[in-house]
Amino acid sequence: MLPFVLTALCAHLATAQTDPYANWPSYADLPLNASFPPKAAWGVWGNDDVHGALNHITNDTRKKSAEEIQTGQAFNLNLELSFFPQPANIERKPLVHLFQPGDGYTDDVITFNTQMSTQIDGLRHFAYSIDGNTSTYRYYNDLIPDYEHVIGHDYTSVLGIQQAADKGIVARGILLDYKAWMDSQNKTYDALSGWSVPASDLEKVAEWQGLPSNWSRPGDILVVRFGWIEAFGKLNETERAIIVRGPGEWVGMKADDESAEWLWNKKLAMVGADNPAFESTPFGHVIGGHDGMSLHQLLISGWGQSIVEFLDLEKLAPALHALNRSSFFMTIQPVNKIGGIASPPNAMAVI
Ligand SMILES: *[C@@H]1O[C@H](CO)[C@@H](O)[C@H](O)[C@H]1NC(C)=O
Ligand SMILES: *[C@@H]1O[C@H](CO)[C@@H](O)[C@H](O)[C@H]1NC(C)=O
Ligand SMILES: *[C@@H]1O[C@H](CO)[C@@H](O)[C@H](O)[C@H]1NC(C)=O
Ligand SMILES: *[C@@H]1O[C@H](CO)[C@@H](O)[C@H](O)[C@H]1NC(C)=O
Ligand SMILES: *[C@@H]1O[C@H](CO)[C@@H](O)[C@H](O)[C@H]1NC(C)=O
Ligand SMILES: *[C@@H]1O[C@H](CO)[C@@H](O)[C@H](O)[C@H]1NC(C)=O
Ligand SMILES: *[C@@H]1O[C@H](CO)[C@@H](O)[C@H](O)[C@H]1NC(C)=O
Repeated sequence: MLPFVLTALCAHLATAQTDPYANWPSYADLPLNASFPPKAAWGVWGNDDVHGALNHITNDTRKKSAEEIQTGQAFNLNLELSFFPQPANIERKPLVHLFQPGDGYTDDVITFNTQMSTQIDGLRHFAYSIDGNTSTYRYYNDLIPDYEHVIGHDYTSVLGIQQAADKGIVARGILLDYKAWMDSQNKTYDALSGWSVPASDLEKVAEWQGLPSNWSRPGDILVVRFGWIEAFGKLNETERAIIVRGPGEWVGMKADDESAEWLWNKKLAMVGADNPAFESTPFGHVIGGHDGMSLHQLLISGWGQSIVEFLDLEKLAPALHALNRSSFFMTIQPVNKIGGIASPPNAMAVI
């Protein structure tokens, strides 16, 4: 009997080590410790983990995502770096592009706020805070003791964008085209208002696209086309300048427990959208029984899950529709900058 028990026990331990989902907490189980912020997933990947949701990407998920390459057609998902007349939000400094001529060669120097165009928000970009005061900021896995460690004299590089740059972000992307779904029903909405899209509607979009109910796989990157870029593209220059000056309002995912639970269950490596923040404005909703919460706080600081914003899906979406497809091969390569907060994602899709 004893050898059998030992063998079974060893097999169980081996499974527990190799299958990260064997004891995967449900959304209701979060946070694992009452001292952690609302619905944080601190400790789920280990107390010292710095990769968060990127842990869903493995050698196997990368290999499997290559099956998405069928026609070989590639799509740049990044807007031009100066697509906006200035970075969204007047507080942010404009991009500076200088040319530096040499003898027989030319360099250039680009200085820009990483929130300028298409961007991936890293884990130092957003913190839980109960009152907006930097003294109450809390970052993923509590790895940054205070704000001085992000920008000040106690600067450390933990949770910097270099960790995402090193990880190897190769995944299956899933596009949910909310705008096309609304169009298909002759339903209109203002993408430049705080139009909130609940998870139940995104599920209907998936169904409309012909996806099965179990359409997501761990390690997927969910990309939603909310129609913001299309709406912005229809504005004249004066109107664009007003939108970009901010703070403004925009369409996006509704920030509530229904959305959060839906996203948590999907085990996504990352989420992205063609809008300024994935979620809608204004920020500040009830999540996990706490008011003043945003998906930014929950995903970035709670789950270590980056958000990709202002993705250019305007060519990819029609190409996928024409093929009656929703999934694609996707890579994201942030700049390898120690201590970096965000980065152009250098995002690419191959279908
Ligand atoms: C919960 O956090 C507290 C305070 O950090 C700590 O003393 C306690 O050991 C933790 N409990 C568990 C189960 O991790
Ligand atoms: C991925 O494959 C490499 C090369 O075989 C290996 O060193 C690494 O441990 C693998 N990673 C995981 C998470 O299995
Ligand atoms: C933030 O909190 C600190 C510590 O409690 C306090 O000294 C400071 O005045 C606060 N700052 C603001 C802008 O409220
Ligand atoms: C949308 O409008 C078009 C043109 O008026 C019409 O042919 C179509 O049936 C409408 N679709 C729905 C779902 O109402
Ligand atoms: C599109 O694909 C879905 C699921 O793969 C399928 O059910 C549907 O019939 C397809 N539609 C067309 C027009 O081929
Ligand atoms: C999803 O469901 C279908 C049946 O609808 C099944 O054949 C398939 O194996 C399921 N996929 C996964 C990943 O569970
Ligand atoms: C831009 O559109 C607004 C209406 O929203 C209009 O008042 C304005 O004259 C337009 N500007 C130009 C330069 O066309």
